[in-house]
Amino acid sequence: MNQGLITVNAIGAGRWGPNLVRSLRNLPLVRVHQVADPDGARLELIARRFPDVRTTTDVAATVTDDVADAVVIATPVRTHFDLARRALQAGKHVFVEKPLCPTVEECELLSELAEGRGLTLAVGHVFLFNAGIRKVREILDSGALGRVYHLHATRTNLGPIRDDVNALWDLASHDLSIFQYWLGAGPSEVTAHGESYLKTGIEDVVLASYRYPSGEMASVQASWLNPRKVREITIVGERKMIVWSDMDVIEPVRVYDKNVQTRSSAAYADSLGGFQMQIREGDVVIPHVSGSEPVAAECEHFIECIRDGRPPINGAALATDVVRALAATDESLRRRGAMALIGKGRGPSGGRVRAARVAAGA
Ligand SMILES: NC(=O)c1ccc[n+]([C@@H]2O[C@H](COP(=O)([O-])OP(=O)(O)OC[C@H]3O[C@@H](n4cnc5c(N)ncnc54)[C@H](O)[C@@H]3O)[C@@H](O)[C@H]2O)c1
Repeated sequence: MNQGLITVNAIGAGRWGPNLVRSLRNLPLVRVHQVADPDGARLELIARRFPDVRTTTDVAATVTDDVADAVVIATPVRTHFDLARRALQAGKHVFVEKPLCPTVEECELLSELAEGRGLTLAVGHVFLFNAGIRKVREILDSGALGRVYHLHATRTNLGPIRDDVNALWDLASHDLSIFQYWLGAGPSEVTAHGESYLKTGIEDVVLASYRYPSGEMASVQASWLNPRKVREITIVGERKMIVWSDMDVIEPVRVYDKNVQTRSSAAYADSLGGFQMQIREGDVVIPHVSGSEPVAAECEHFIECIRDGRPPINGAALATDVVRALAATDESLRRRGAMALIGKGRGPSGGRVRAARVAAGA
């Protein structure tokens, strides 16, 4: 285990990069040495905010800098592969923002490179470090919901509008990582519709429906052209239901003790095939959720994985499954909603969630 100082260089000083720099600087025995960005104005902001950090427009030299043990990359998605590849080839541990790369092949190449050299490769699927998302996983693991029927995510806002990826890649990448974290596998098929209103060929609104290997259905509404900022997921289970809202900072998780019970009934035998549906309205429980800021926890996990040599929960396997699902969703979009098959998802937890549910009699 490496207990010494870890020196990090950062690439990309746009909207998101400074959050990573701030969180890394707050960690013990971590030094952010240099931030690189081709845009000098962005670097001036970094220099003002973090006077001890050097700034440069020389991105290539910063990626391969001998001083750095690790490189964090928060740049447009189209640049991720080349920057991460060069950093890994120079022997650096790498943290890249989500989504990992524009294609599955590029993700796999980075993954092989990192594995072959024994380097940590982590991806900015920051919701895996969100305390509410983790609380929901605890509840799912306990088997309290019974069989999970379906999930629905809404992720909308007005902006930020991107020009290198559509709203699906920018926003639904989060929900796909969350679904995979909860369900223990990636989706197997997708149908999607979307529309480009602002820039030709870049969808501002996407509605996608996924089917998971164990039968769960999950849908996502992703849009940067919407008056309201919503980050919400509803999970409907056989016994209970959950609503998670990232906008509710105090009480992000609500567990609804509601379900529909099916009983056989002679009285209904003629009209409803012998079954009676009974709606059960129980309590709404708001579990206590506490935890550190997700970006801070994500950066801490990256550094711990470097020190301990253990695989990150937000590693290349999960990130590649997310890109696999995104690429298939794009295919369905291009074919105007035709179903697209997605290769087998491996999942970060090897079906642990489902095993726990089975053990709990779900
Ligand atoms: N995890 C999250 O919640 C979250 C939130 C926002 C953004 N992101 C991700 O962070 C990444 C950056 O997003 P952003 O909102 O900061 O974008 P941005 O456009 O605000 O900033 C990107 C920065 O990268 C710089 N840049 C462009 N090309 C470069 C290159 N070849 N080499 C080095 N720098 C280059 C730009 O000058 C700019 O300063 C994206 O992958 C995005 O998906 C993640």
